[in-house]
Amino acid sequence: MNIVFASAEVAPYSKAGGLADVAGSLPQALAPYVNSVQVLTPLYGQIDQKKYDIHATTSSGEVLLGDDVIPYSLYQATAADQSTQIGFIRCDRFFGRDGIYTESDGEGFADNNLRYFFFQLVVLDLISTGSIPADILHCNDHHTGLLPLMMKTMQLKVKSIFTIHNFLYHGHFSAEEIALLPGSTKPLLTITQWDNYSALLEGIDHSDIVTTVSPGYALELLAGLNVDQHSLTRIQAVKPNFSGIVNGIDTEYWSPERDQYTPFHFSIDDLDGKRKNKAALLTKAGLSPDMDAPLFGSISRLVENKGFPFINKLLDEFVDLGAKFIFLGSGSPEISDQLRKAGKRHPQHIAFDDGFNEPLAHLIEAGSDMFLMPSRFEPCGLNQLYSLRYGTIPIVHRTGGLGDTVDPWTPDSGTGFVFEPYDINELRKTMNLALKIYYSGSDWAALMQRAMSMDFSWDQSAKQYFRLYNL
Ligand code: GLC
Repeated sequence: MNIVFASAEVAPYSKAGGLADVAGSLPQALAPYVNSVQVLTPLYGQIDQKKYDIHATTSSGEVLLGDDVIPYSLYQATAADQSTQIGFIRCDRFFGRDGIYTESDGEGFADNNLRYFFFQLVVLDLISTGSIPADILHCNDHHTGLLPLMMKTMQLKVKSIFTIHNFLYHGHFSAEEIALLPGSTKPLLTITQWDNYSALLEGIDHSDIVTTVSPGYALELLAGLNVDQHSLTRIQAVKPNFSGIVNGIDTEYWSPERDQYTPFHFSIDDLDGKRKNKAALLTKAGLSPDMDAPLFGSISRLVENKGFPFINKLLDEFVDLGAKFIFLGSGSPEISDQLRKAGKRHPQHIAFDDGFNEPLAHLIEAGSDMFLMPSRFEPCGLNQLYSLRYGTIPIVHRTGGLGDTVDPWTPDSGTGFVFEPYDINELRKTMNLALKIYYSGSDWAALMQRAMSMDFSWDQSAKQYFRLYNL
């Protein structure tokens, strides 16, 4: 069995969010079960070709985008563990610039639809010409949502699977833009209630198998939570082929025992290094070195649905209770402004780093006591999984993958703190409970032990994907 895995971002080469982490680790986990796994992704201008030994291959070709004949060439790298090949599609007109989806000011590129139409046409070209052997084409999110349909029209003997990482982003395109796609696709497209087309919904309609990144999120989508009526009809139509498989994590890259970015290493049997990391983190963040103060970490895109309106309102009262906070992330200017102001009000207790900073992300996971992740909804979430592994107790809303992966604390069970319904008072109560247990000492140690013994490696989930490929 030969798998082709198409994704708009792949860690460590290009990363805007969790999709990259999955595309950078699931293929490796699948490798032992199949003949070959080939990842395909665009060669963005910002990718460091030298560092990853990305080199040109003899494969090249051209595709027709509307009336334009556009050439491409295929570059290749081998994954760090040698298990998989990563193919990078080079076309400087579309990808030879900095930024994955957006300009430096955060505005999406005006030609994003064209860019990902083109990417998909190239994937199809590579498969249909036999340059890349494929029995299964695994598509991810709307950037690759039209591939199952395009394959259908070509009657290729390739099975398609489409994974939804976030239902929020549809990749809408207009009736005029259809002219850029092969003519045979047009009769198969379905117009939405907004009078346009949705690459995400096309992926759902035309794939042989549809998955999302946790069983909980699958149930929420089928129940229509945060889903409009039109989309719901289309999801429900594929219900028999729709399931949720929880994401795994790269347990080498996120390992408290071997983390390349943290100054101290630790394990479930020897937590000394965790305390040292906490001290290092406090110093790095410019907070007072009060080791007994409970330290909340947060790594997140700064958007409303990650719970920042609640957090912003609760910061002052929890600082009064002695807590400290470290935030890392970028996004909404309004939220970064609020966090910056909170940092100015409490320079010894609140730190905020605006941006994307991989080493700091690891140190926050390793050095914090608790991880704050009160997302309104969350398809899977990965940071709560990294947190559990580092004994950093997650505080989450019971939704999607958060509900599936964090067990609520009781005196003798549980791995974190879980609140519902989605209400600021519930979050407040839960954070207060977390502080109480934190100060109790022995209960906290037991909680950390349980959290750190959870296994979120890809193994189980990769097997579930493999089973679906074989159906
Ligand atoms: C998206 C989702 C996140 C998920 C990730 C990887 O970023 O928002 O919950 O973990 O994709 O599947």
